[in-house]
Amino acid sequence: MSHADDHVGTRRDFLYYATAGAGTVAAGAAAWTLVNQMNPSADVQALASIQVDVSGVTPGTQITVLFLGKPVFIRRRTPEEIEAGRAVDVSELTDPTAQNPNLQGIQPATDENRTMDEAGEWLVQIGVCTHLGCVPIGDGAGDFGGWFCPCHGSHYDTAGRIRRGPAPQNMHIPVASFLNETTIQLG
Ligand code: FES
Repeated sequence: MSHADDHVGTRRDFLYYATAGAGTVAAGAAAWTLVNQMNPSADVQALASIQVDVSGVTPGTQITVLFLGKPVFIRRRTPEEIEAGRAVDVSELTDPTAQNPNLQGIQPATDENRTMDEAGEWLVQIGVCTHLGCVPIGDGAGDFGGWFCPCHGSHYDTAGRIRRGPAPQNMHIPVASFLNETTIQLG
């Protein structure tokens, strides 16, 4: 039985709609509160995996969903972002590790090791600055065209790797997989 089959028809299936934009986060927060009230021991199980509909995410845009109490950025990158990410020499990075639990062992922080698909369009990462935990600003922010954390000035590149500022690590990647072309499962 596949991991996905385990969850079919159970309360653990939460489907978010990408078209909701900011509303997606609100829906996640509401679900969290509701499940918490219903059964505190079930809440962790309930959000152990969620399915996200990414059919509305066009290149150059991203959505944020709430997963295990943290924001997760799901970005569909432009060809320019992919090119910029792939042009980086890993030996120049502050954190040379991919921070990707979907790979076996500790792997280098190449652009390819940070993204979900071969073309490098889909980047999914936990939207928490690895310095002190602020939520970075996205959509090409910062000096490296990726994300910027205004709390103490950490700049992340188009692959979510720390390039300047006090953050010690690349943004972490959650356990994630494509269930089909338009659905990403987290967890
Ligand atoms: S929390 Fe992001 S730079 Fe300090």
